[in-house]
Amino acid sequence: MINEKSIEAKIEDIFSSLSFTAEPAGLYDPLRYMIAIGGKRIRPRLCLLCYALFQDEFGEGVENAAAALEVFHSFTLIHDDIMDSAPLRRGVPTVWKKWDENSAILSGDVMCIESYRLLSQVAKNKLPEVLELFSDTAAKVCEGQQYDMEFESEDCVAMNDYIKMIGLKTAVLIACAAKMGAIIGGANKREAELLYNYAYSLGLAFQIADDYLDTFGDTKIFGKAIGGDILNNKKTWLLIKAFEHEQARERLTQALNMPTETQEMKEAKIASVKAIYEELGVDKAAQEQIQNIHSEAIAYCQETGLSGVRIEMLKRYASALLKRAK
Ligand code: IPE
Ligand code: IPE
Ligand code: MG
Ligand code: MG
Ligand code: MG
Repeated sequence: MINEKSIEAKIEDIFSSLSFTAEPAGLYDPLRYMIAIGGKRIRPRLCLLCYALFQDEFGEGVENAAAALEVFHSFTLIHDDIMDSAPLRRGVPTVWKKWDENSAILSGDVMCIESYRLLSQVAKNKLPEVLELFSDTAAKVCEGQQYDMEFESEDCVAMNDYIKMIGLKTAVLIACAAKMGAIIGGANKREAELLYNYAYSLGLAFQIADDYLDTFGDTKIFGKAIGGDILNNKKTWLLIKAFEHEQARERLTQALNMPTETQEMKEAKIASVKAIYEELGVDKAAQEQIQNIHSEAIAYCQETGLSGVRIEMLKRYASALLKRAK
């Protein structure tokens, strides 16, 4: 059986041999920069893991699917950082900061294309299903990102609408990674669907954890600037939960309307909103919610009826994911 150690070795192997040598440098350097720095690589790892539930050896082009997921994900981050005016990612300047916005747009575009080129190398008999899943997912990510931006200027967003938004912008790609690995590995429809649901739940919890870390994380570990969501008036889990406390609404609205022209003003706004979150305990509530969704994810993977060792692997992946500090 393929174990976690062999999955890690395969991840190493995939990303050390993935090279983009084309020119012009202005187009491909940002792409090389993003892939070389590397993030946590949770999506390719999950794809290989779900493949390994059904196969004893790597093959069927699953490595290319894993690479495609990471390249596509990194493309969405490059564009996301323009949209969020984010200066820092993975502990280094974002592409639009280091180069400029136009370079970030075009390098992002070519990365999206590269992800399809990689994906097309999956075994021919699996390709139609895999391509359909990937394209469907990619469109949903765009839909989620659009809702995320539209919500910035809305006063009040319902928790249901927030969950729908993060489902689209974040959870579907993680769910796609799981299902794609399972499909390439030869899972039946029911197994593939349950693994999709398992990973979709993990994806929701992962985004709530991301929202939490954006305010309460440590920039040195998280690799992103703390407080960006507050400065952008992002409708995060924390903000929506805080708005559910009627007595805090007025103060919260005042804090959100604070000016942000200077660095000092930015820090003051972040500190004010953060203080309200702490007073209301929405930081702790977020941790509880993450735990609850985590349990739902585990229930889905248990429903698959896979063997004990396989379920344990899925459980370990879920725990590692939700212990994130970066
Ligand atoms: C960041 O994704 C975007 C979100 C969906 C929250 P990751 O946290 O997986 O980013 P990297 O790839 O590890 O940098
Ligand atoms: C990003 O959500 C989701 C996608 C990139 C599709 P965020 O905007 O919260 O991600 P980070 O915090 O910048 O990584
Ligand atoms: Mg962002
Ligand atoms: Mg964003
Ligand atoms: Mg975030």
